[in-house]
Amino acid sequence: MEFLEEIQKRRTFGIISHPDAGKTTLTEKLLLYGGAIQEAGAVKSNKIKKGATSDFMEIERQRGISVATSVLAFNYQNKKINILDTPGHKDFAEDTFRTLTAVDSVIVVIDVSKGVEEQTEKLVEVCRMRKIPMIVFINKLDREGKDAFDLLDDLEIKLGLKLSPLSFPIGMGYNFKGIYNLWEKNIKIFESSNKQKIANASEYNTLENNVLKKTIGNTALLELKESLELVSGVYPKFSKKEYLSGDLQPVFFGSALNNFGVQELLDCFIEIAPSPLPKITDKRLIHPEEKDFSGFVFKIHANMDPNHRDRLAFVKIVSGEFKRNTPYFHVRHKKKLKFSSPNAFFAEKKKVVDISYPGDIVGLHDTGNFKIGDTLTSGEEIQYKGIPNFSPEHFRFVNNADPMKAKQLVKGINQLMDEGVAQLFTLNLNGRKVIGTVGILQFEVIQYRLEHEYGAKCRFENLNVYKACWISVIDEENKNYQEFLKVKKKFLASDKKGQLIYLADSAFSIQMAQQKYPEINFHFTSEF
Ligand code: G4P
Repeated sequence: MEFLEEIQKRRTFGIISHPDAGKTTLTEKLLLYGGAIQEAGAVKSNKIKKGATSDFMEIERQRGISVATSVLAFNYQNKKINILDTPGHKDFAEDTFRTLTAVDSVIVVIDVSKGVEEQTEKLVEVCRMRKIPMIVFINKLDREGKDAFDLLDDLEIKLGLKLSPLSFPIGMGYNFKGIYNLWEKNIKIFESSNKQKIANASEYNTLENNVLKKTIGNTALLELKESLELVSGVYPKFSKKEYLSGDLQPVFFGSALNNFGVQELLDCFIEIAPSPLPKITDKRLIHPEEKDFSGFVFKIHANMDPNHRDRLAFVKIVSGEFKRNTPYFHVRHKKKLKFSSPNAFFAEKKKVVDISYPGDIVGLHDTGNFKIGDTLTSGEEIQYKGIPNFSPEHFRFVNNADPMKAKQLVKGINQLMDEGVAQLFTLNLNGRKVIGTVGILQFEVIQYRLEHEYGAKCRFENLNVYKACWISVIDEENKNYQEFLKVKKKFLASDKKGQLIYLADSAFSIQMAQQKYPEINFHFTSEF
């Protein structure tokens, strides 16, 4: 197949939701419809189960599973679909933010009875800021939930979206009978509810059908007609252009568990979702159709086997073809690397492939060359942008608990930081190391992994830091800046790149500093 055709057929996306809204179930059902699995239940959830928030053994177990579910690829109607896994657990939000740099679009799953939840709000905000095309799937219609219109209002107000329903539910909860598909202009009434298999449905092309009237009843039919009038009167007509520019979000309703409304979603998705998009680097915009290969690392996964310090670096291919055993340029290290067994992902399996295309994800075995955000090219010195670090929420000093293993501790910490597990700051005053994480769970993960993978022991010590701010200033000789460096000496640190960080102890301190030193810029992400 032609290179351009390969690009056009790819759809690389992520599913985002608050935990428990149905992301895993929907993913699995998409695989079922894509023929990649025969029965639901085959894909193991990599989510951290409720109540396991401080159980790091559980995390370790899940980590093994999550390699397999990091990328799930399948073919559907001559399209190659790559689903990138995004952890829903808030302690792993940064992982999800990074994965969002590698997707071309997203599906947002909302639980009909819960409406907009905390994680949905945060993740959608990131997608909105980056103008990522979004489709909304309102799930669990088999349960009693909010009125469809109230829910749509809620989504528009809380998530700042402009919605355009492309399907509408017929009934809800016990009375959920089917879907009016505004995209394909047909009506599906669901018959079987064997949760493991594709649902049987009868299809109608018009509401004026006697069998349909009899099946759903006169009242439901009238209600549906009224609702559809309201939809067409109140909501904007779907425009693919606006969807692709991130200015309009189509909405689908269904029940992932019962396989209702999933096919409608998938059939529309493959038609409207974007094929691989161009991506910005520090020098220029790179287009997927360019002949020369380029890509970037958005995720690193440590091996489960502590005897092999082998890691898998996930590279999103942005342009050109990626070929096995071909030397590529590692921009940060300025050296050529060759990969003899790049992995591609199919359903839940991975296998060695000879060639991959833009939109694809390849897993490269790595013994410590890669860091999240690294760029690989055919030779050009460019650096992909858009994988910033955010300020951590929790900060602790890390102390060596086994003086004989100091080297192992340093190595372990460095490698875990490269993987993006947490961020390391070094205090300028005395060189003490501070680890910052998004959730407290990571401290346990770090301690456990340092011991089991590197044979090093550490102790954490509390530290009162509210936020880390990246500092920049136009004139380093500025008197006020010099004063700031002196006054805040105790609170200054460097990150792994050597950038200056202010570890503020409260929101008030940041406010005061911003007022007192207007010539200094305080940034809350590392990319500015
Ligand atoms: P997540 O990945 O977003 O965290 O959610 P997940 O798919 O694991 O779904 C969370 C729970 O919601 C699961 O139940 C799942 O079966 C249920 N669920 C998903 N889709 C639907 C739906 O359309 N209707 C209904 N009624 N339930 C749905 P669980 O009891 O927590 O787990 P499990 O024992 O079923 O695995």
